[in-house]
Amino acid sequence: MGDKPEIVLEGNTVKITISEVHQHIGEEVTIGVWLNNKRSSGKIAFLELRDGTGFIQGVVVKNEAGEEVFQTAKSMSQETSFYVTGTVREDARSPFGYELQVTGIEIIHEAVDYPITPKAHGTEFLMDHRHLWLRSRRQHAVMKIRNEIIRATYEFFNTHGFTKIDPPILTGSAPEGTTELFHTKYFDEEAYLSQSGQLYMEAAAMAFGKVFSFGPTFRAEKSKTRRHLIEFWMIEPEMAFYEHEDSLKVQEQYVSYIVRSVLENCKLDLHRLGRDTSKLEQVSAPFPRITYDDAIELLHEKGFEDIKWGEDFGAPHETAIAESFDKPVFITHYPAAIKPFYMQPDAKRPEVVLCADLIAPEGYGEIIGGSERINDYDLLLKRIKDFNLSEEAYKWYLDLRKYGSVPHSGFGLGLERTVAWISGVEHVRETIPFPRLLNRIYP
Ligand code: 4AD
Repeated sequence: MGDKPEIVLEGNTVKITISEVHQHIGEEVTIGVWLNNKRSSGKIAFLELRDGTGFIQGVVVKNEAGEEVFQTAKSMSQETSFYVTGTVREDARSPFGYELQVTGIEIIHEAVDYPITPKAHGTEFLMDHRHLWLRSRRQHAVMKIRNEIIRATYEFFNTHGFTKIDPPILTGSAPEGTTELFHTKYFDEEAYLSQSGQLYMEAAAMAFGKVFSFGPTFRAEKSKTRRHLIEFWMIEPEMAFYEHEDSLKVQEQYVSYIVRSVLENCKLDLHRLGRDTSKLEQVSAPFPRITYDDAIELLHEKGFEDIKWGEDFGAPHETAIAESFDKPVFITHYPAAIKPFYMQPDAKRPEVVLCADLIAPEGYGEIIGGSERINDYDLLLKRIKDFNLSEEAYKWYLDLRKYGSVPHSGFGLGLERTVAWISGVEHVRETIPFPRLLNRIYP
């Protein structure tokens, strides 16, 4: 057996996929495809074909393919599915690098009046047709980049000794505050949809040392911005014996790794999206750090005179701060009062906590939130009470500080904001297959 396991199909009509054509130059192949677009001039028809793995141009020359195949090609409607047979040609002029000299077409299903035509459509129309919009070249490129980030994430954490642990989705405790929770009935009890797996990951870190999770996250935020989803995916690493600064090192190396992986493995997708990659090329650890105090000062210098110490930053503030740096920038040491209850106060200045938000360049905003966690039982209990949280609900979480408590830190990276930044897509709605937004739960 080779390095990569192969799927063996016997008797399947489809012999190869578009992603494999480069291994079949000069050969006749059959591929199951959909018609993405077409144009014809005189005795030649150009078919833009897709099969899910990629796109390729099929060239149907009347004199070579014959009258019947040529007429079928010319009259085919957009999104018709068929088996195409042809010879693979390398062609530098073709937008896809390869061409298929078509010799046969076997229609599977004719599509009638496909709603998304090559002309421009409005966003709401495209969102209503998200189940079809996903087929477009642009959406294909974004999803491939998302997939590469997920792949690189597993690779990074697996090769650095982390264990993947899956926290629950239905929970009885709320790490990030109680206002943005989705409530649900859990038989006779009240439950919530997870808004972070962090507390469970802390338990896991005490059992496995270094852990990470990757799962859906739900926030009933009434925010209608280009950065907010109601349901999004978060990667949450948690590390025992890691202090604040150790966690920042992991974060900058992890983010550099995923950026490099996308640059190396998604060249065509980035090109398709028209992404200027010059800024991404500069993303390598270490990242600059700025304290909350200095960020306030910087904002005052930049004309945001109204912002006062103790207030949280909004999107315009984050964008203004990020503009001063070429790479993602950490804003550290926020006031304790505007951060969750579990963050470790700075021993030298207890009014600020050992935390950092990582702000992406080019206006994409915060992609990571993280901190060192309180490891002292009494302090954690006091914070739970200060925040008016139920001591009973957090009993198990307090237990972690009763039995061999250690310094530990962790963070959460929002996948969709990261995909938006790396692929250069303006709005997070295009970075998840079926976005859940303030006014949208369909399709
Ligand atoms: O800063 P947040 O709220 O951090 C936590 O939930 C921590 N418990 C994570 C941890 O330490 N384990 O969220 C983390 C990240 C944000 O930086 C952002 O990228 C993303 O999650 N995020 C959202 N993404 C899309 N839509 C939303 N409504 C988001 N809210 C947060």
